[in-house]
Amino acid sequence: MSADRETFFASCSPGLERPLLAEARALKLGKPEGQPGGVEFRGTVEDAWRANLELRTASRVLMRLARFKAEDKDALYRGVSKISWERFFGPAGTFLVHARTIRSSIDNDMFVAMRTKDAVADWFRERHGRRPSIDKNAPDVRIHVRLNQDRCMLLVDTSGEPLFKRGWRVEQGLAPLRETIAAGCLLSSGWDRRAPLLDPFAGSGTILVEGAMIAAGIPPGAFRDSFSFQNWPGHDAAKWQAMKKAACERGALPKKLRLVGSDLDGKAIRGARANFEAAGFGDRIEMTRADAADFAPRKGWNAFVVTNPPYGERIGKAVKLREDYIRFGKALKAHCSGYTVAVLCGREELARDMDLQAAERLPMKNGGLDCELWVAQVK
Ligand SMILES: C[S@@+](CC[C@H](N)C(=O)[O-])C[C@H]1O[C@@H](n2cnc3c(N)ncnc32)[C@H](O)[C@@H]1O
Repeated sequence: MSADRETFFASCSPGLERPLLAEARALKLGKPEGQPGGVEFRGTVEDAWRANLELRTASRVLMRLARFKAEDKDALYRGVSKISWERFFGPAGTFLVHARTIRSSIDNDMFVAMRTKDAVADWFRERHGRRPSIDKNAPDVRIHVRLNQDRCMLLVDTSGEPLFKRGWRVEQGLAPLRETIAAGCLLSSGWDRRAPLLDPFAGSGTILVEGAMIAAGIPPGAFRDSFSFQNWPGHDAAKWQAMKKAACERGALPKKLRLVGSDLDGKAIRGARANFEAAGFGDRIEMTRADAADFAPRKGWNAFVVTNPPYGERIGKAVKLREDYIRFGKALKAHCSGYTVAVLCGREELARDMDLQAAERLPMKNGGLDCELWVAQVK
């Protein structure tokens, strides 16, 4: 595979741009630049492997193929036809086009997708006498087309399945947090990876597993079997396996680190335990059945509470929910002086019910809902 430098865009869920940029810098990706919806960086294809393997808050890593003016359907077709598509797949492969157009002469997403699909199919037919087919579920290659004010950007997805699909989850639970958002909450909370990490509304245990992986330095892609770039012709499988192996051997969970979860629901506890086991932390993450209103961890622990209580959209009844937040806030004040608390909540009045002085309120999206991560120091 070529060692040429390319431009990549690591996309993320809204609100995760800041931790993603910090991650890209820490990984020493080339010239990382924060943009709405993600981070652009320069690098080789191997850098994109690393980004897929190591970025905890990215949703996908896209490689930019071209930028051109496309004020009509012919200009779009010509621009797409200039790409050497054989670099990514062959006529026996499958693909899917994702299109988005705004403020442009061609104003229909579906039309942009169809026109791009035709140009790619014709490109192969002219050279091979046959064309790759469309697969809506598990295509070998995903092509992204973005039109904005008639300027077209063409990208190819290096990730495949979105990166929140880490591969460790065996149980979903009722309202699981996306792994990328859980990592974003942890990285935004200021947790130092040594202080005890507590989640009193742990559900399926996403925050605790992601916390354990962060503390151990285990890459988020460690459990994933496949990324789209592995299907590209000429992919150096031995080099990729060596990179993955080296990254996965890197760390270990600090011996004294405490990771403690609880939940009111017995089924959630069983599900979380199965997830801890699958991720290899079965003997390191504690999980008990408890009401968060009775939350009373050890005094003087200076722990971090990173949590995602219900906020009524999918689970929880309105009146009971308000009482729960009030009682949880009281428990924090009674028992958690000096702790840092980061609560992801989708309803401002509920977050206010905890009566904490938020040092920061970080907007995020969770499952399409506008949320905020309230970060506070308990007095
Ligand atoms: C939004 S879910 C948390 C999801 C979790 N972050 C995950 O990734 O699976 C909220 C959880 O809080 C639990 N819960 C609701 N009321 C509770 C209470 N009073 N005390 C403890 N847990 C409670 C629910 O059983 C549910 O598992």
